[in-house]
Amino acid sequence: MTAPSPTRRRTLQAAAAAAAWIAAPLPAQPRRTPLPAMTEGPFYPPRAWRSPQDDWDADLTRVRRGARVLVARGEALGLDLALVDTGGRAIDGADVEIWQCDVLAAYRHPDVDAAPGRFDPGFQGFGAARTDAQGGVRLRTIRPVPYPGRTPHIHVKLRHASFGEWTSQLFVDGDPGNARDFVWRSLQTEAQAAAAMRLQPAAADGLRWQVRHAVVVPA
Ligand SMILES: [Fe+2]
Repeated sequence: MTAPSPTRRRTLQAAAAAAAWIAAPLPAQPRRTPLPAMTEGPFYPPRAWRSPQDDWDADLTRVRRGARVLVARGEALGLDLALVDTGGRAIDGADVEIWQCDVLAAYRHPDVDAAPGRFDPGFQGFGAARTDAQGGVRLRTIRPVPYPGRTPHIHVKLRHASFGEWTSQLFVDGDPGNARDFVWRSLQTEAQAAAAMRLQPAAADGLRWQVRHAVVVPA
């Protein structure tokens, strides 16, 4: 068999890069407890601060810098969220924003030291997407890491005419740091379950982990 031509090879590489991972199934038993409301905390990047030249899309693991693309350090996580209300109805057309720190525990925020070496320039830090007709949204990020005083978590802000604005955090189910985390400990058991993502090992699309999590909002 002959080797693919350079053009064919580029096409194959492009196809592999674009290949989407298969979403994990949602639990058979639908959840009805809403994701607990939480404050946005000190690191929500203000809209006015987000430079239009920057890349704020749904892939937090790649950052465009002119002609260059920087790639995030850390373990790539495919994040499928399914937005439903407490009545089980899918919420389409909702804005979903996530933000989290990079592997060096640095958030993208005007108050955070962005000196070279203090943060990962390949991690976007913040990303956004809009839910489809089934209430689904797909983002690509890194598995959240702990930072001083906090267990791993991903901040999330949701907007839709049906419920307004809803701000919360997603945790990693079974993380040993959860039991020491003041936010996690403040939640009732049902609310903890609503906020705990069950990560699964992933093999496709360069991912190390993937998760599909039902995000329940008030009806
Ligand atoms: Fe945080």
